[in-house]
Amino acid sequence: MRANVHSLIAIAGLSLMAACGGGGTSEPAVKTCAEDPTQSKCVVVVPADSTLRLSAAKTSRYFGAAQDQMFFNQNAAYNALLAKEFNMLTPGNVLKWDTVHPQRGTYSFTKGDALLAFAQANGMKMRGHTLVWLNTQMPSWLLNGGFSADTLTQILKDHIATVVGHYQGQVYAWDVVNEAFAGDGSIQVPASGNIWFSTLGKSYIETAFRAARTADPAALLFYNDYSLEFPGAKQDAAVALITDFKARQVPIDGIGFQAHFQINPDGTGVPSKASLTATFQRFAALGVKIHLTELDIRVRTPGATQAELSAQAQGYSDVVGACLAVAQCEAIVVWGITDAESWIPSAFPGWGQALLFDASLGKKATYTAAKGAM
Ligand code: XIL
Repeated sequence: MRANVHSLIAIAGLSLMAACGGGGTSEPAVKTCAEDPTQSKCVVVVPADSTLRLSAAKTSRYFGAAQDQMFFNQNAAYNALLAKEFNMLTPGNVLKWDTVHPQRGTYSFTKGDALLAFAQANGMKMRGHTLVWLNTQMPSWLLNGGFSADTLTQILKDHIATVVGHYQGQVYAWDVVNEAFAGDGSIQVPASGNIWFSTLGKSYIETAFRAARTADPAALLFYNDYSLEFPGAKQDAAVALITDFKARQVPIDGIGFQAHFQINPDGTGVPSKASLTATFQRFAALGVKIHLTELDIRVRTPGATQAELSAQAQGYSDVVGACLAVAQCEAIVVWGITDAESWIPSAFPGWGQALLFDASLGKKATYTAAKGAM
């Protein structure tokens, strides 16, 4: 029986460095877990079948988590939980333009590299996020540069060549273009703007995908957006984009469903498992892989009712179940591990409790529901 099977998972990259001893030059060098994750101090024993990553792996899927400040805080218990439960990792912010390319031609990969090292030491795939977005988390040199179309195209190509090139062969999938479509299927230009579309027109999407393929032919290239989970004009626009790219041999390998859901007071908000399955099948038929890239399901807070929390848990079960029902759906990534780190309370005041673990790293009913669906 599987109950006796144990898996060894090296928890590397944690602040587990032993005391240096202050000795002279004859002291043997103490290695960190990042340098040598096979040391006994870096290895924990995890019962088989008891984690999201093991359940996902049994169905040839990935279960991932976006990471941001909590990871860099070097909280050993938190980072151990990350390695134990998840086998895919997405940088939540640190590969966006403002962090990775803060001055024109100056790149900073320190934080992205730290996440990649942790992922590699712990047998996790890395998703790259994101190469082109809106005027969001962009450095001022770019937003305020007044660049011509030719110059902006070259800036975009150089950025992708440099960032994707830096991680060439090491990032499993890239979110190449993020949130290009508005609800009506047109290209989105929010109040804060979209310099890519305003300066280059719709061709910026194709330019980005071609540049990404050139920089890393092995990386899977994704278009990533929110609300694609609901049938309608926006979903149709994504289908049309992929259909057009396939017909013209513009490289694209996958569709990312951000999957940011909200439980309304009447319990609605997450499409049914049947509806989600049909949506995933619609994209699978186009010949692309499916990743759920930023899953969270928010409820009213404080004061969510038991009925709302039950609907939330059911939502997690339905989303995971729909992914497992479609062979091309190979990854489910939650946007953070704990409710304490989630982006929801600041982005949607009055909403929260959207993730799988509470602030004390305790498993919630949502965890049980997600894992139970695998
Ligand atoms: C969010 C981050 O989680 C926040 O920390 C940041 O302040 C704003 O961006 N869609 C995306 C993600 O593609 O990059 C966003 O991440 C959440 C919405």
